[in-house]
Parts: sequence; structure tokens; C-alpha cells
Amino acid sequence: MGRKLLLEHAQVEGIRSYEVYRKQGGYRSVEKALKTMSPDGVLEEVKKSGLRGRGGAGFPTGMKWSFLAKPEGVPRYLLCNADESEPGTFKDRYLMEKIPHLLIEGMIVSSFALGANTSYIYIRGEYSWIVFILEKAIQEAYANGWLGKNILGSGYDLDLYVSPGAGAYICGEETALIESLEGKRGNPRVKPPFPAVKGLWQSPTVVNNVETIAAVVPIVNEGGDEYAKIGIGKSTGTKLISAGGNINRPGVYEIELGVPVEEFIYSDEYCGGMKNGKKLKACVPGGSSVPILPHFLINRTANGEQRLMTYESLSDGGFATGSMLGSGGFIVYDEDQCIVRNTWNFARFYRHESCGQCSPCREGTGWMEKVLWRMENGQGKMSDIDMLVDIAKKIEGNTICPLGDAAAWPVAAAIRHFREEFEWHVNEPKACMERNYGLVREPVAV
Ligand SMILES: Cc1cc2nc3c(=O)[nH]c(=O)nc-3n(C[C@H](O)[C@H](O)[C@H](O)COP(=O)(O)O)c2cc1C
Repeated sequence: MGRKLLLEHAQVEGIRSYEVYRKQGGYRSVEKALKTMSPDGVLEEVKKSGLRGRGGAGFPTGMKWSFLAKPEGVPRYLLCNADESEPGTFKDRYLMEKIPHLLIEGMIVSSFALGANTSYIYIRGEYSWIVFILEKAIQEAYANGWLGKNILGSGYDLDLYVSPGAGAYICGEETALIESLEGKRGNPRVKPPFPAVKGLWQSPTVVNNVETIAAVVPIVNEGGDEYAKIGIGKSTGTKLISAGGNINRPGVYEIELGVPVEEFIYSDEYCGGMKNGKKLKACVPGGSSVPILPHFLINRTANGEQRLMTYESLSDGGFATGSMLGSGGFIVYDEDQCIVRNTWNFARFYRHESCGQCSPCREGTGWMEKVLWRMENGQGKMSDIDMLVDIAKKIEGNTICPLGDAAAWPVAAAIRHFREEFEWHVNEPKACMERNYGLVREPVAV
């Protein structure tokens, strides 16, 4: 059994309430940090821990924090990114719903380290019930002296707010999140300036994922060096993985980074193997934005090494033969699943969620969806396959924010690894629908 640093107490009855959370050792990190450490001392521990952002990009958290500008007399902000809209990813929801005080505790210690006196949790609009859970937890934290003025007599003040979005994936991109929090349309900003210099209301700002902020609690409690002992190489600590698809035990798992991917799929501790004994066809290890891995690249990298659940191993081989750990949205496909349909489904999502600011993304996501839809509906042409690759290439790297890349990568990777399946859809129009769904729909005009 791997160590659990975040979900250790998730199943304790009543853990959502302040009293039970406190009895389980909750808020110890705030006591330790505010009474015995300086803000820079907390930053040092986070640096030592090797913690990397859990929102998708895996950027080292300590380094990000050290970039925060500190001009005299200008407020600084910590924003928690709880937008979690990446298809396949639902771990932040689990954490906030089960143990809301862990996030509040992480927000307090992290805000202290950054010198922020006002912080926000920006949460996706669809998580409406979690807004109430968090607000109740925040009230309890205020009532017990963990938030507000002069916390624990340390002279440190912090106000914490929850701010719901309106259900837009783009608002998870950190500068779009900032725009949205300022009350504007959530369009990503051109960078530089980066949020560390000019973020919320043009003030220095750090944006971190829910899980990243929660991980600061065990790091402060146990020390950065202890945290760094878990994991492999530059993938330290534990990671929440949202596992879904054709597996026996879908759910949220906390793994020690470094578990072999195959073990994660087949072990009863995690996914429990393939549902109905079907064959493994592919997996998307890090949420819909990352390249799909065909079955023969799941156990082994192209270099012949065992594929592990780490940032490095999952991306080994680059996009030719690798993928990414991303946000840990782990989707498993069995032999009956249609890759063309899945790719169309992802493309449909990105077309809908593109903010429309950059033409390659606005137009390209629309074209990719239309072409994939006609292919899935038996109206595809062989030349469509290369056209999709071409559109994906023209989006990638040509947009203000990485939503364009996120839309392009899954399409390019699906064709790279499953070209024959795309060709089969062209050669045998509708055969896939007959086989998989027992129906043939009327052709649609595109
Ligand atoms: C389109 C788009 C959506 C994103 N959605 C999220 C999200 O829902 N949650 C999140 O933490 N990061 C999301 N990110 C990444 C954030 O921009 C940012 O990198 C992250 O919040 C940084 O936190 P971390 O360093 O703790 O990972 C998204 C990025 C893009 C481009």
C-alpha cells in the first residue's frame, strides 16, 4: 500500500466538519508555520519537496512561488484554481467534497508563505454544491481563529473567498481565471507580463491547483525532505489520479509517483483490471488534452523501459511514442471502443470551449470537429485524415494560451497511433456504428 498524504483521512466519518478534521491533526501545519517558521522558511520546504504543480503543466511550485514580485505597498494574491473542467479529471472535486478543510489549511499556509492577505478559491460553476461545502468550512475556520485578523496572535491576517465561475473550461487557464475573477469575460491574457508580476488587479499573483495547495500541508508538517523521499527522480510525492473508462474500479486514487502504469490498471488496489475481462486497447493518462497511448506503449516506453506513473516516464519518447501525466485524468479504453468517435468527442469539447480570441483555435477546432463527425458518420474521405493532421499542426503553438495545443494533440496522437482505424472508417462507412452501437444514423449535412 502506498502512502496517503492527502486522502489518508478521507474516509473518516464526519471529516468534512471542523471538529473531526481538527481531531485528526488538522491545522497543525498552520500552527507550525505561523508560530515557528518564516514565510521564506515555508518556501524553502516547498522547494526542497520538489512539489510540481498538479494542475497539468507540472511546473515546480517552489520556483513559481519564488518568481512572485514583492514591490512595497502592493498587495499579493494567491488564487486556487478549482476550475477542474478537463474531461477525465475529477480529483479536485473529490478532495474538496470530502476534506474541504485540507484545502483551507493549505490556502492559509501557502498564503502566509507568499505574503498574501486576501486569497480566492475560483471554482467551476458546475460544482455548485461544493461552493456551499467550502463556504461552511471557511466559516468554521474563521470561527476558530484560523482566518481573519492576527491569526494565532502571529500578526498575520488572511481573508479567504470562494468565487464560482460560470462553467467555462477556458477559465481554468490562469490568466483567463484572473480576468473572470475581475468580473470580465474569461479570455486568456497575452504574456508577458506573467501573473507573478501583474496578475489579479495588476498585482503580483500566484495561481495554483487545488491538489498543489493541499500538498503544502504534509510538506510543512513533515518537511520538504521527507516529502521528496516519496516518488522517483523529479516526480516527488503523491498524486491524485482520477481513473475512469472500461475498468473495474473507477474512482480517485492517491498513488506514490512511480507506480508502474500496468500495475495501476490491473492491481486491485487501483483500477482492478479491465471490465468484463476485455482487452486493453489504449489509455489517456493525463486528461483529454494529452496524447493517447496505444496498448503496446502502456507497459513499455519505446526505449524498452517499464512505463511508470511519473512526469518523465509518461512523456518518455516525446509525442512520437509518449504522452503526459497532465492533470492525472486517467481514461482506459477496451477493445470495443471506437477511437474515431472518442477523438470526435474530445474535438467537440474543445470546439465548444475555445474562447474564440485566436483564429487558429477558433476556426481549427470547428473544422476538426466537423471533419471527425463526418468520418464517424460514414461520410469521410481518405484525404480527411491528412487534413486533420494538417489542421492540428496549424493550431499547435499558434495561440495565446495552450487550449489550442490541448485540442490539437489528441487528434494528432489518435491518427499517429490508430491511422488504420481512421482509414477503416472511410473504407467501411458506418460499419463501426453497426458493430459498436447496433445502429446506423442518417447521414448529417456538414
Ligand atoms: C484551457 C486550460 C484549462 C486549464 N484548466 C485548469 C484547471 O481546471 N485547473 C488547474 O489547476 N489548472 C488548469 N490549467 C492550468 C493553469 O493554467 C495553471 O497552469 C495551473 O492552475 C497552475 O497550477 P499548478 O502550478 O498548481 O499546477 C488549465 C490550462 C489551460 C490552458
